[in-house]
Amino acid sequence: MPCILLTGATGYIASHMWLTAQEAGYDVIGVDSLVNSSPRVLDRLTTLSGREPVFVQGDVRDAAVMDRCFELARERFGGVQAMVHFAALKAVGESVERPLDYFDNNLGGLLSVCQAMQRHGVFNLVFSSSATVYGQPERLPITEDSPLSATNPYGQTKLIGEELLRGLERCDARWKIAYLRYFNPVGAHLSGLIGEDPRGIPNNLMPYVAQVAVGKRPHLNVFGNDYDTPDGTGVRDYIHVLDLAEGHVAALRYLADMNASLTVNLGTGQGYSVLELAQAYGDAADREIPVVFAPRRPGDVAACYADPALAESLMGWKARRGLKEMCVDSWRWQSTNPQGFEG
Ligand SMILES: NC(=O)c1ccc[n+]([C@@H]2O[C@H](COP(=O)([O-])OP(=O)(O)OC[C@H]3O[C@@H](n4cnc5c(N)ncnc54)[C@H](O)[C@@H]3O)[C@@H](O)[C@H]2O)c1
Repeated sequence: MPCILLTGATGYIASHMWLTAQEAGYDVIGVDSLVNSSPRVLDRLTTLSGREPVFVQGDVRDAAVMDRCFELARERFGGVQAMVHFAALKAVGESVERPLDYFDNNLGGLLSVCQAMQRHGVFNLVFSSSATVYGQPERLPITEDSPLSATNPYGQTKLIGEELLRGLERCDARWKIAYLRYFNPVGAHLSGLIGEDPRGIPNNLMPYVAQVAVGKRPHLNVFGNDYDTPDGTGVRDYIHVLDLAEGHVAALRYLADMNASLTVNLGTGQGYSVLELAQAYGDAADREIPVVFAPRRPGDVAACYADPALAESLMGWKARRGLKEMCVDSWRWQSTNPQGFEG
């Protein structure tokens, strides 16, 4: 079985990828510093997969940590076939307060990961990029050839990260890279045993709504109800985290089979407004989500959704799960784990 090495492995998206990849026939080894995740994820992965996770705790910027991962993969699985690099800090607001920490962690981490790959002769990489690289989109739906820009240090780390990797590919044809631009990952594993567990006040809409539904927060603040959208609130493209994980498996297969790089959006192509999402979540949780309208936030756009056609034509991948499933699965996780992994 081919083996993949996941960085940021106990994080929200990577933990779902871990299970999805194992189901697709990959052996998995994970590395994480636990700066934004819980070691209890590993117990849940054991329960769900019936296998002890092969895991290294450490920072990807540490060359010795990366070497240990490759050595362990060699001992246990005969070597790494491809790397999936999720590890990053991801809070936009925090990145404005601590830009150097973001540059150091996200760009320093990426360089260290690539250096380790080169030392160990592995050149297939899946990179967690983001729709944030489109900045303020000029056209909708967003296609991959849209203009790129960054509006905050977090976005810069994704944009510069992509640029660094493209530079690497131009200099050395052995590198094959999948640049996956995620839209808004939401939802949770069907078991309700793993899901998104933000520390402090959630930065993203669905985890915030989930905490309102479970009674941890009194209401949802809706920033702006006078946008040029059907109900006046912001419209975004939400994608179920399991669809996203399946997109990564499709990308790994593409890299191995086509021996070529690719850049694709991972979204559904369908936008939902804040109020539509709150309503769907309330239906899933069978309770009302109180909303309070507040002024628009600077930098927010009215609508943002993907054109996902390229991912389908190149990789044969398409998101399958709708808003209802996203909310039902998120609620199963939130309601059975109201305190997240620490409960
Ligand atoms: N969730 C989103 O809305 C979203 C959207 C677009 C892109 N992304 C990207 O997807 C990736 C995964 O995001 P997520 O939502 O799962 O976030 P997450 O915070 O849940 O997971 C990231 C993991 O990386 C780990 N990590 C961070 N820096 C590290 C380092 N230097 N060494 C080792 N481990 C480190 C954290 O402990 C965490 O477990 C990130 O690169 C993020 O920027 C996320």
